[in-house]
Amino acid sequence: MNAQFNVPSTILVAGGASQQLAAQAARLGGRRALLVTDATMVASGLAQRCVDQLAANIPATVFSGVKPDPTDENVRDGLALLRKTNCDLVIGLGGGSPMDAAKVIAVAATNDAPLREFAGYHRIARAGLPLVCIPTTAGTGSEVTKVAVITDTERDVKMMMLDVHLLARVALVDFELSLTMPAPLTAHVGVDTLTHGIEAFVSKKANTLTDPLALECIRLTAANLFTAWEEPGNRPAREAMMLAACLGGMAFANSSVCLVHGMSRPIGAMFHLAHGLSNALLLPALTRWSLPGAVARYAQIARLVGAAANGAPDGTAAASLPDYLEKLNARLGIGRLRSFIKMDRVAFEQKLPAMADAALASGSPQNNPVVPTADEIIELYRQAW
Ligand SMILES: [Fe+2]
Repeated sequence: MNAQFNVPSTILVAGGASQQLAAQAARLGGRRALLVTDATMVASGLAQRCVDQLAANIPATVFSGVKPDPTDENVRDGLALLRKTNCDLVIGLGGGSPMDAAKVIAVAATNDAPLREFAGYHRIARAGLPLVCIPTTAGTGSEVTKVAVITDTERDVKMMMLDVHLLARVALVDFELSLTMPAPLTAHVGVDTLTHGIEAFVSKKANTLTDPLALECIRLTAANLFTAWEEPGNRPAREAMMLAACLGGMAFANSSVCLVHGMSRPIGAMFHLAHGLSNALLLPALTRWSLPGAVARYAQIARLVGAAANGAPDGTAAASLPDYLEKLNARLGIGRLRSFIKMDRVAFEQKLPAMADAALASGSPQNNPVVPTADEIIELYRQAW
């Protein structure tokens, strides 16, 4: 086995875990905190609750300028505020976007290099400022990953950064913060979680340390996502999905994501679809195409989610998984790619070569059970259309 496993040094998983923020921030030696979040968290009052909790010992400044699909400009704005207010601790509060922005702000504070130089694998020289992540969606798993995705606004490309220095020191995983998520968001980030579990398990980089996490992520998601979507206040389902997201994050960050994430990022960059939604739109077709490369593993997933009987042979079981994923999307109100893109088919076709190049350049497709050519990626985009 050849595996490296990195996670935050402290992961607190509990209803109410976010109330440990002040204690954990003090333990990290923070004297002044930058709370990196977005307008939704400000409007909900959650950002202020965090500031109030910290107020006794650690004054906090709120940077709420993070947009969905955070950009290099968001990071630079947050960094400027951090420097102006002399913050020595960063807190990421929200979904994947604020947490990813917080991660990159924390390392940009200590690494004097253009953000583009962080893109790729292990490109960040020095540890960042101490970072606490608090997810409010279940989710990206960003609170436990060493990955951040930041859009390069000049080139309209999503820069994938993977480095141990992007890890939070503390993750506060509190499902109670996810109880108010709207149904479409629950669906999109929930299928993202499922994608993390599946891709981590079928990846060429899957290993003994990540397999159990990936499988439990998949099992929990299959058993709870629809309930969490249908009954937003269902605490056991929300708790299970928050845990699944955390497990999925640990799994994919230490195995890898594959073709779905590789092809999803160009959709996000080009058409500004949310990350989870663009993954969900690709997952069934790309799973069907990838089956021959990992029949036994896809069969194991199919049995685990109940798409195939326990005694079903591998070939039959694996073949049932794409249909299951299509039906799951339909139950969650997730349609076809064409219904989310404001563009006709001809214009979409013209974008495909550049999207295929960007997908391959990310490195993720190379971990897929079957590695596609650029032409095959273009054909798969057509199938998802
Ligand atoms: Fe993802």
